[in-house]
Amino acid sequence: MQVVSIISTKGGVGKTTTAANLGGFIADAGLRVLLLDLDIQPTLSSYFTLASRAPGGIYELLAFNEQDLARLASRTVIEGLDVVLSNDANGQLNTLLLHAPDGRLRLRNLLPIFQPYYDLMLVDTQGARSVLLEMAVLASGLAVSPVTPEILAARELRRGTLQLIEDIAPYRHLGIEPPLLHLLINRVHPVSSNARQIQQALRQIFREQAGVQVLGTDIPAIEAYPRAATLGLPVHRVESRRPSGLLAPAALDTVRALASELFPQWRERFAGVTGREPHGKSA
Ligand SMILES: Nc1ncnc2c1ncn2[C@@H]1O[C@H](COP(=O)(O)OP(=O)(O)O)[C@@H](O)[C@H]1O
Ligand SMILES: [Mg+2]
Repeated sequence: MQVVSIISTKGGVGKTTTAANLGGFIADAGLRVLLLDLDIQPTLSSYFTLASRAPGGIYELLAFNEQDLARLASRTVIEGLDVVLSNDANGQLNTLLLHAPDGRLRLRNLLPIFQPYYDLMLVDTQGARSVLLEMAVLASGLAVSPVTPEILAARELRRGTLQLIEDIAPYRHLGIEPPLLHLLINRVHPVSSNARQIQQALRQIFREQAGVQVLGTDIPAIEAYPRAATLGLPVHRVESRRPSGLLAPAALDTVRALASELFPQWRERFAGVTGREPHGKSA
C-alpha cells in the first residue's frame, strides 16, 4: 500500500479537490483506494455520496486505536473507493496527539490495519501547521503540495510547507525518511501570461531545492472542478473530452497525466480509464 499525503499550510489551494479526483480516478482504474480525511472541516468526507457509513471515523482511529476496519472505513458510491470520515468537530485530536508520546507517529504505526485491503491511501489535511499535519507527512511515502501560481502562495509555501518538511527531518534518526515533496501547480489560467511567468519562476526556485520536485503536470483553472464537486463525481467522469473552443485539456487527460506521473507503476491501468463508470463494477 502506497501512502500519499496532500499537504499545504495554506487553505483553498486545491488539496481536497486533488484527493477526491485522484482517488476517484485510481479507483476507476480498478485499484483499491482509501481516503483519510484529517481536516476538521469534513469537505472530503462529504464529497462523494456514501453507499454505507461506518460507525466510526478518524477520531476512533487516532484517539481510541480502533483496529476494526469495518468500524472505520465508509464505502462511497464509487466502487473501490472508501473513506475514513472526519469526525473531530471540536478539534480535540490535535491536542491529544500533541501530548501523546507517540503522537506524530500514530498514523504510521496504524498503517498495518489498512495494508492488506488497499493499494493506495490518500490523506487529505487541513490548511494549517498542526501536529496532525506532521503526523500525516511522517506516515507518507510521498507528499503532494498544491500551489496556486501566485507569488504570495509561493512565499507561503516556502515559509510553511518547506519548513514543516525541514522540522520533521530529525525523524531520520529513527529511520524515517521525510517523503519527497511534489509541488502541483493548480488553477493555472490557460491564457494568463502572468500565471505562466509565476509557474516558470516556481520551477526555477525549486529546481535546486533538495527533497522538492515540481510536477510536470499542472492543473488548469476550469469550472469542471467545482462542477464535479457539486455532482459528487470525480472530475474525469464529468469532463472526459475537451469542450470545444476551450484551450485547457480535458480533465480526464489532466488527471491521467498526474496519476501517471505520481504512480508510474500503474500507468497501463490508467490508460484504460474512460469517463464512464467502469463496466460490471456498479453495485
Ligand atoms: N483547477 C481548479 N480549477 C477550478 N477550480 C478549482 C480548481 N482546483 C480547486 N478548485 C476550487 O477551489 C476551491 C478550493 O479547493 P479545495 O480543494 O477545497 O482547497 P483546499 O482543500 O486546499 O482548501 C473549491 O471550490 C474547488 O472546487
Ligand atoms: Mg480541503
